[in-house]
Amino acid sequence: MTVDSYLKSALALKKYPPSAIEPKKDTEKSTLLLDIRNLSVAFGKGDYLPVKGVDLILAKGEVAGLVGESGSGKSLAAFSLMGLLPFGARVPNGEIIFKGLDLIKLAPKERRALCGKQMGMIFQEPLTALNPVLTIGEQVSEIFRYHEHMKKKEARELSYELLSQVGLPNPKAAYSSYPHRFSGGMRQRVVIAMALALNPDLVIADEPTTALDPTIALQITRLLHKLTKERNTGVLFITHNLRILSSLAYKVFVMYAGLILEETGQFLKDPLHPYTRALVDALPPNPSEKSTKALIPIPGQGPGPADKFKGCPFEPRCTMSFAPCTESLPPLFKVDERSVRCFRYGSC
Ligand SMILES: Nc1ncnc2c1ncn2[C@@H]1O[C@H](COP(=O)(O)OP(=O)(O)O)[C@@H](O)[C@H]1O
Ligand SMILES: [Mg+2]
Repeated sequence: MTVDSYLKSALALKKYPPSAIEPKKDTEKSTLLLDIRNLSVAFGKGDYLPVKGVDLILAKGEVAGLVGESGSGKSLAAFSLMGLLPFGARVPNGEIIFKGLDLIKLAPKERRALCGKQMGMIFQEPLTALNPVLTIGEQVSEIFRYHEHMKKKEARELSYELLSQVGLPNPKAAYSSYPHRFSGGMRQRVVIAMALALNPDLVIADEPTTALDPTIALQITRLLHKLTKERNTGVLFITHNLRILSSLAYKVFVMYAGLILEETGQFLKDPLHPYTRALVDALPPNPSEKSTKALIPIPGQGPGPADKFKGCPFEPRCTMSFAPCTESLPPLFKVDERSVRCFRYGSC
């Protein structure tokens, strides 16, 4: 079975509520890398719920995008995968099945060992991801020394190679430099090197280019794409920039108020959910297109993690809402191979 046909059949099994998904056959498990089911993140007693039952699947070697405006719960969902949730946050329900194992059920020690080696994370701000008092070399070679128990010399040689693969022109000089001497783009190259050092099966990139200027952002995106393609790494690329994803991701999950509103491969050409449409309408034109199209901002603000809503969370800002939208939360409806949480597609 190919990855494509697997994804189609796996998605076809998706019903609402998400926890009603049928268990998959053994043969289907082999291509599936990550299967998140009904994942929530809560603070305190559970009234503050920034992530509300997210479903997401990623196959081996696939790049998936997770988009949504600031505060929609993207980072907390990503941190919960890595077991890096901030103090006070917990996962009240859900499963994170990574290579057939439910990470939530693993003991902390087992989970740390698995996450360190087989999952890598790239953060938005590369300076805070690097330790300012250690040289780049100490930080990169430490990964090989700690996880692979390598000797100093061997770890250093491998670090040179890795730093050269991420495009640092003089890897030996970079090895003995401190992070503050590097530009933002060069630091992010180092962070990418560290995330890929142990050849993980999954990389989670949380807004890896947001802190960079547009030309460097494009270089870094291309680099990440090239390296992960060569290694057949699954990538969950989190961003609020739909344009970046158009050349990168096979499919995109659109997140809003802690929920997935749409899962699609055609978000720029044929967005389904009114929110995805609004995001596309608010996109600045591609500089090469010389478009005179006016940008249409989305009025208002989305609900926060403590706000209660009975119907669709986007309804107060939606130009296409109708009666059912205020009555109950729409389920994810299937439209071809896509899913959309909007009553307008209820009869598709
Ligand atoms: N440590 C925290 N304590 C309380 N609220 C938090 C914390 N971290 C994030 N949040 C809240 O959870 C929501 C989702 O945050 P986040 O996942 O960072 O959003 P995104 O990455 O999509 O911008 C936001 O409303 C944010 O304010
Ligand atoms: Mg974030």
